This record gives sequence, C-alpha cells and structure tokens, in this order.
Amino acid sequence: MSSLLSSPYVEALQTFYNNVGKAYNDTTRSMHSGGPERIVEAAGSAVKEGSWVLDLATGTGKVGFVTASKVGNTGRVLGIDISDEFLGIASEAAKRLGVSSYVEFVQGDVGKLALPDAYTTRCFDAVTCGSAIGMFPSVQTVLDVIAKELLKPGGIFVADMYATHMPAKLFLDVAVPRGFQPPLDPKWLSDTETTFRNIFADSKLDLKSITLHVASQAKWDASTAEATEKLWTSIAFDQTWVSFGLDRLGAEVIEEIKQAWIKGLEDYKNSDGFVVAEMKQYIAVAVAQE
Ligand SMILES: C[S@@+](CC[C@H](N)C(=O)[O-])C[C@H]1O[C@@H](n2cnc3c(N)ncnc32)[C@H](O)[C@@H]1O
Repeated sequence: MSSLLSSPYVEALQTFYNNVGKAYNDTTRSMHSGGPERIVEAAGSAVKEGSWVLDLATGTGKVGFVTASKVGNTGRVLGIDISDEFLGIASEAAKRLGVSSYVEFVQGDVGKLALPDAYTTRCFDAVTCGSAIGMFPSVQTVLDVIAKELLKPGGIFVADMYATHMPAKLFLDVAVPRGFQPPLDPKWLSDTETTFRNIFADSKLDLKSITLHVASQAKWDASTAEATEKLWTSIAFDQTWVSFGLDRLGAEVIEEIKQAWIKGLEDYKNSDGFVVAEMKQYIAVAVAQE
C-alpha cells in the first residue's frame, strides 16, 4: 500500500481520512453546502454530455457525482483518492445510483499519478479538485501534470478551498510562531485568493477567475471549559489535518499553544460561548494552454 504514496505525510493523510470514513458526508453536508455543485458549474461547457472528467482527491465522490449527472453515460468520470475507505463509500454510491458503467473510482496519490490504461495523455475535458489542493505537498508539480498530461488543450481545471475553518486557522496563528511546522501554507486559510493566484502564476494553466461564495455558517461549541477542551482535542489531535506533526513539539510547547489558542478563541466567541464563522469557498478556474 505505502508504495502507492509519495511521502509519509500523504500516508498520514490517508490514515486520517480512512478514520474519518462515513462521518465525512455528514459533517460536510451543511458546511460545504452547494460547494460541489458550484465547482461543476464553474467548469462551464467543459462539463457537458459526453465529457471526460477527472476528479482529483475525490473523497466520497461528491464532486464526481454532480459531474456524472452532467456528462451522462456517454461521458466518463474518474475519481482518484488515497483513502480506500472513502473510495469504498464512493464505489458503493456509484452502484446504488446505477452509474458504475461510466463513473469509476481508483486509488491513487496525485503526487505519484498512475491512471488506468483507458486514459491516454491529455484526454480530459476537465479536471476538478474539491477542498484538497492546499494539502498537496508539491502542488506546482501537480499543476504541471494537469496542464501537460491530463487536460486537453483548452481544457478546464477547477479547484476550491474553504478559507474559514476558524478554530483551525487560529490554531495555526498561535502554533506556527511557537515552532510548529504546518503541513500546508497557512495562507491557504488566511489569504486563500492570493495563494491561488501564486500557485497558478508559474504554471502552464492560465488562471481565468477566482470567485468567493459563502457556503454556510459553521458553529463550534466553546461555551464551557469541557466543550472548549473537546474542541481543542478535535482541532489539535482528531479532526483536522492542519495539526499533523504537533506531537513532535513536546508536551510543554503543546500546552503553551493550547493556552494561547484558548485565549485567542475568546475574541471570536458569541455571548452564548459559541464560535460562529462563515465557511467561505473560493473557486479557481484555469485553462490548459495548447
Ligand atoms: C477534504 S477531503 C475532499 C474530498 C472531496 N474532494 C470533496 O470535495 O468532498 C480531501 C481529500 O483529499 C484526499 N487527498 C489528500 N491528499 C491526497 C493525495 N496526495 N492524493 C490523492 N488524494 C488525496 C483525501 O484522502 C481526502 O479524500
């Protein structure tokens, strides 16, 4: 299994998402509300009846299934992901929806891409990537592969990132100055638009647009010491991949980060002790050169 993956970090992500498993669709349903539909819409006429579309880091296939409803059985949707757990959920759903003949999910690491034989060089009308581009260790290489090996000339790449997972952003704000090395550029959370512009600037993909959408209001309970402790554990250890590697810092530094995070959280709390923040979805659309 691990030979499929490009790095120990990707292996850690794989374990993380395998553990999230079935809970993913439930937790993101309202948080990412309408997000997959907006991604597919942003691809415009590149996703139409008969199109071939690759969904990178497809997860449980949320973007892929919206795409499937557009391309129909004369098109093809290929979803790739590192998480076998997610791919199992996606494949089951494809069977249930009766789309397995043209919607396929395969395991793969975007940093070490190997597609099934049916897919030749530059065969895709569109490549999509939902909520994952900030996770790729060498995003510039991934963009190069998309431009030179995956997309047809003039083909469309659409990627999104959600900017405001506030407790996670605050975690990076307080942890990075204390020596934590984050797995992503913290600017993906604090200045998503500029980060998108920067990654496309040196690529062979021409950035066409970046649009901002408010997907939902997310709400985190920090109303009691117990709830705050639970939230800290979920941010620092359980649910977010932004805290990968925190344990390397040692108990004393982690405690210092935790106290700074709890203090910082005060500025974001409502009178009921809950933290409420908009989940902002940035969608970038780029075109492959000839
Ligand atoms: C936040 S989820 C997004 C899933 C899906 N695209 C969506 O919009 O719901 C991030 C996904 O990226 C996948 N992922 C992360 N790094 C990857 C890599 N190097 N190659 C393939 N998939 C990766 C994870 O397994 C996970 O399914």
